[in-house]
Amino acid sequence: MRILGIETSCDETGIAIYDDQLGLLSHQLYSQVALHADYGGVVPELASRDHVRKTIPLIKEAMAEANCSKDDIDGIAFTAGPGLVGALLVGACIGRSLALAWDKPAIAVHHMEGHLLAPMLEENQPEFPFLALLVSGGHTLMVQVDDIGEYKVLGESIDDAAGEAFDKTAKLLGLDYPGGPRLSKMAEDGVPGRFVFPRPMTNKPGLDFSFSGLKTSAAITIQQEGNDPQTQADIALAFQDAVIDTVAIKCKRALKQTGMKRLVVAGGVSANKSLREQLARLMKSLGGEVFYPRNEFCTDNGAMIAYAGMQRLKAGHFQDLSIGAKPRWPLEELVSVKASL
Ligand code: KG4
Ligand code: ZN
Repeated sequence: MRILGIETSCDETGIAIYDDQLGLLSHQLYSQVALHADYGGVVPELASRDHVRKTIPLIKEAMAEANCSKDDIDGIAFTAGPGLVGALLVGACIGRSLALAWDKPAIAVHHMEGHLLAPMLEENQPEFPFLALLVSGGHTLMVQVDDIGEYKVLGESIDDAAGEAFDKTAKLLGLDYPGGPRLSKMAEDGVPGRFVFPRPMTNKPGLDFSFSGLKTSAAITIQQEGNDPQTQADIALAFQDAVIDTVAIKCKRALKQTGMKRLVVAGGVSANKSLREQLARLMKSLGGEVFYPRNEFCTDNGAMIAYAGMQRLKAGHFQDLSIGAKPRWPLEELVSVKASL
């Protein structure tokens, strides 16, 4: 079986074709970063309009790259939420309409399910059950994953998402949007230990996160210590270390609580090299294993939507003829795939 996947939830248009026997046949990605750069963040209306321009040409390119015609496609998956409502509606309109025109089933995919299943696109796939740490620009979630669609959210951020905290702190350091990868680069020149920021909510029991205070710590330090390049790098490093330590402490706690031995880390911030290294060390010390998607599938992409869509296509979880998007969509509302196979 073969599926076309469409991702338009934020500022990336991602299109992919996935075959359940042959794997990923093609994937196309168009990033709107340059479009939003002048504004220091994503402008929702501009994002929607750019998805309108890019989605159909990219579908054509992905179909050509995979050497597919519409007759080779068994279903069309699109991200239905959570995300920016206008951006989501573009993907939903195109995906649902194309499925109607081609007489194929349409599948509404949850963006975070896409992220947490992204490591399944790699050779070394995690077996169920596993613990998933989802760290993106919009969400920070600790999830117990018993199977596809069987999710229990154990913890989440009570304020800023991890990626959002990276982006806001990067802005304070004068870096362009999206600041996460730029802040991480800047931190490479930082002197360890010159500044130490708090590890929020690690002294209290529980698995929720809070990252907005870290941004305030960085702002106060910039105000007091000045903004020369070395100080900036030292602050960037202290900030990054605080985020990574905090998520590592929470992962250790969640692994102990659930008895899990496998950890999946996904979402944009999982591309962070230091985060990967620290969590790899943690899992080694605990005798467990950590799984990541390849870097290009950590951030938003169509491949993860095609993969998640394929699992639901096989289970017969189709979208009716209505076109809709869910800007907010709790992960726990999803239904089990295994139960309908
Ligand atoms: O998953 P994603 O592409 O979009 C959402 O669904 O939100 O995540 C984007 C987020 C941005 O906040 C970006 O700054 C962050 O991931 N990010 C990083 C790195 N690469 C991307 N943060 C820290 N270090 C990185 N290397
Ligand atoms: Zn995402």
